[in-house]
Amino acid sequence: MNAAVDTVPLSPRVKSFIGQPHKVLIDGRWQSARDEETFEVFNPATEEVIAHVADCKQPDVDLAVAAARKAFDSGPWPNMSPSQRGRILWKIGDLILENLEELAQLESLDNGKPISVARAADVPLAADLFHYMAGWATKIEGNTLALSVPYTPGAEYHAYTRREPIGVVAQIIPWNFPLLMAAWKLGPVLTAGCTVVLKPAEETPLSALRLAQLCLDAGLPPGVLNVITGFGESCGAPLAAHPHVNKVAFTGSTEVGKLIVKAAAHDLKKVTLELGGKSPNIVLDDADLDVAIPGASSAIFFNHGQCCCAGSRLFVQERRYERVLEGVSDAAKKIRLGPGLDPATQMGPLVSKVQFERVTGFLKSGKEEGARTVVGGGRHGNAGYFVQPTVLDGTQENMRVYQEEIFGPVVTVTPFKDVDDDLIRRANDTVYGLAAGVWSSDMKRAHRIANKLRAGTVWINCYNIFDASMPFGGYKQSGWGREMGHEVLNNYLETKAICAAI
Ligand code: NAI
Ligand code: MG
Repeated sequence: MNAAVDTVPLSPRVKSFIGQPHKVLIDGRWQSARDEETFEVFNPATEEVIAHVADCKQPDVDLAVAAARKAFDSGPWPNMSPSQRGRILWKIGDLILENLEELAQLESLDNGKPISVARAADVPLAADLFHYMAGWATKIEGNTLALSVPYTPGAEYHAYTRREPIGVVAQIIPWNFPLLMAAWKLGPVLTAGCTVVLKPAEETPLSALRLAQLCLDAGLPPGVLNVITGFGESCGAPLAAHPHVNKVAFTGSTEVGKLIVKAAAHDLKKVTLELGGKSPNIVLDDADLDVAIPGASSAIFFNHGQCCCAGSRLFVQERRYERVLEGVSDAAKKIRLGPGLDPATQMGPLVSKVQFERVTGFLKSGKEEGARTVVGGGRHGNAGYFVQPTVLDGTQENMRVYQEEIFGPVVTVTPFKDVDDDLIRRANDTVYGLAAGVWSSDMKRAHRIANKLRAGTVWINCYNIFDASMPFGGYKQSGWGREMGHEVLNNYLETKAICAAI
């Protein structure tokens, strides 16, 4: 950064946590990688190394899966009463809240996100997920069934279903909401009574390691949760392919999602995937622009655009096009960029050099293909991975910036004439189907459009509203299955039908 900035002083606990050698949690014990190797973790605002973590590979994966297997097959977790499990989950939520400031600082330092956002959203939402799931632990139920078997006339049966934990689950998560993605995955898997090996992203491993300790402190028995740090190919891939894993739950790129499916194919593991998006955000001419303009702006710029559901394709009805384009561009210009740990920061750096290069590469390709950059368009400052909030006009349907997930603060704005089939076609014209937005004062119109959008979440007159009770996931290549809500429990449960002749 160019200017001097005031950053939040790191709490002594964060300092001591950052300073310690980072081990991984396997079978209730903190251990180094078998080969003792480590890799560096960076502060994306300064490009400085802040920590070293264990570089786990196949032998560590084997140990972690064996620990989870043992905990599932003969450990206390699946045999504990649902009420006992629920109380541990609730306690994890409580401990997250008790450590809110520490976790928010860690998240901001590691990922680059504004501390104000981590405090208000990431950490409380993570806690809430555990609290919500804790209530479900005692409410996982089967059915009793009335049979009419044609070839056993007169026979009577007592038939029922049980919902049973699927077994050992591998969970692989990304770097955009490191703690929250860990919570989205761990809350339901533990509620279902499974055991788990979690691999956080190599860019942002710190908060998951801290969360693992909080889970132990809450009373989670050894081996139920194992957290290993490592790279995608050398750690994630052997984990996804491991023969003793029953299920893989992945959040990340669509490209790696396809690799996970391939890795799971040889023994037909169950798989759920939460992948990319290129979400349409539609502003009708009757929308309240005082709400729609800041809403459309935050739909794309929240978390620096590093959201799978970012409203990255903004469609505006012609009559309001100029005003919305100008309004969103003004909002983009006013966003205050800075290190996440500065409380005044509204947008931090992108997470890594790789992501910085990916996003600036898209900006270059947009220019080459003839899009007009209204604001932004390049790097901000000369240190750290900061990218200017960018608004593109004049994009065509075949341009990469219009088709592909950029995962940065870049929005394309396009006009439409009428609310007709062609608008719906354009909104749905993407391989993804994760989220969408509609802005209108006419609820009838808004709901009719919402029904036609091929997306797992549609927000009307709001955007990026998340709640533990609301299922989230994708149509088309945005994924398989849903996170959150009670629906997510299906990801981690098998149904067993039991039929007794009586
Ligand atoms: P990625 O999909 O490579 O990484 C996500 C996780 O998958 C990380 O934990 C990584 O270690 C792991 N992984 C990578 N390769 C793997 C493999 N072969 N087997 C098993 N695990 C593997 O995503 P990346 O490279 O960080 O970002 C690339 C693009 O993906 C972004 O620009 C964005 O478009 C998209 N993305 C989408 C996310 C979402 O929330 N849906 C989150 C992160 C990235
Ligand atoms: Mg990758």
